[in-house]
Amino acid sequence: MEKERTFVMIKPDGVQRGLIGDIIHRFEQKGIKLVALKLVSVDRKLAEKHYGVHKGKPFFEPTVKYIISSPVIAMVLEGNNVIELVRSMMGKTDPRNAEMGSIRGDFGQFIGRNIVHGSDSEETASFEINLWFKPEEIAKYNRIDEEWLTE
Ligand code: RTP
Ligand code: MG
Repeated sequence: MEKERTFVMIKPDGVQRGLIGDIIHRFEQKGIKLVALKLVSVDRKLAEKHYGVHKGKPFFEPTVKYIISSPVIAMVLEGNNVIELVRSMMGKTDPRNAEMGSIRGDFGQFIGRNIVHGSDSEETASFEINLWFKPEEIAKYNRIDEEWLTE
């Protein structure tokens, strides 16, 4: 399996609703390694760059407004096939279609309040990690449970 990094954001509604701990706990319990973490008051420029692929779509402006409305948690997670793994733990974009047991399925009700973001490909992950973090903000370390997690 391939070691990857992904960018994950707990969106303003997740922070405001007190779900930071619950969400990070799920990643920790799965054995995914946290290598960078910060709370960010996002400005419009960063939000527009982050969602740049959606520029011109009807939901672009509401999504930018949503992301800048209150602080977010930005993080980088590392692990085997972590990009796809995190996307499956998040659930489908619209919480109404997201499987129960996923973050969006368990905690959300509306597509415009869908709690978390996760990179959708290796290319997106590297673009987003560089957009949100400086290289020195990303830690290199071993977790003591790594040999018990992998076979
Ligand atoms: P994200 O980028 O936030 O992880 O979400 P995603 O990949 O599951 O979905 P994406 O298609 O990239 O959409 C980005 C965000 O835009 C908002 N959205 N609203 N009203 C709508 O039809 C609509 N579609 C997308 C959501 O906040 C979505 O997460
Ligand atoms: Mg997306």
